[in-house]
Amino acid sequence: MDSQPKPQILLTRQEIEATVSRLATEITGEYHDKHPLLIGVLKGSFMFMADLIRLLDFPLEVEFIGVSSYGKGSQTSGKVKVVQGLRSPIKGGNILVIEDIVDTGLTTAFLLDYLRKKKPASLKLCVLTDKPSRRQIPVTIDYLGFTVPDKFLVGYGLDLDEKFRNLPDICFLEGEN
Ligand code: PRP
Repeated sequence: MDSQPKPQILLTRQEIEATVSRLATEITGEYHDKHPLLIGVLKGSFMFMADLIRLLDFPLEVEFIGVSSYGKGSQTSGKVKVVQGLRSPIKGGNILVIEDIVDTGLTTAFLLDYLRKKKPASLKLCVLTDKPSRRQIPVTIDYLGFTVPDKFLVGYGLDLDEKFRNLPDICFLEGEN
């Protein structure tokens, strides 16, 4: 058995629930009559997306895109690529991108640029956790859950080498960066 660092809780499931609820209220205010397409960025956003959309009581559609910049380990490779494409049309749609975390900003900046080229009517970004201290490229976040410190986060969809996504709290791992 490989030894794993013990995750320490940074944001409890109750804090996450309250914040997702606040974001749902904000998003409802803007999108209740706009029939948006929410695009979750795989894999990390799946849990956030699932909790968020259950609180959105208006017509919407859900899509996922796979974008990858991290290989094994906790350092970004700096090279972003689409590893699973979209099946829904983007042109003319009101697109809301759902991200679990913005760190260097490379993934999100690439993705927003990729989507913008498909000519949506509107394009906005909802992010659960933002780590601005690590930013390499500016990213405008329209709906933000938490600003987090420069620690390696896991849980609530976030992973280290595909592990820990199932933790219900957002945790940090000592010794990783
Ligand atoms: C994570 C996260 C973001 C990205 C943020 O994805 O979900 O998409 O990294 O990092 P950045 O701001 O430095 O680009 P990851 O590539 O780890 O894939 P995953 O969601 O499948 O875990």
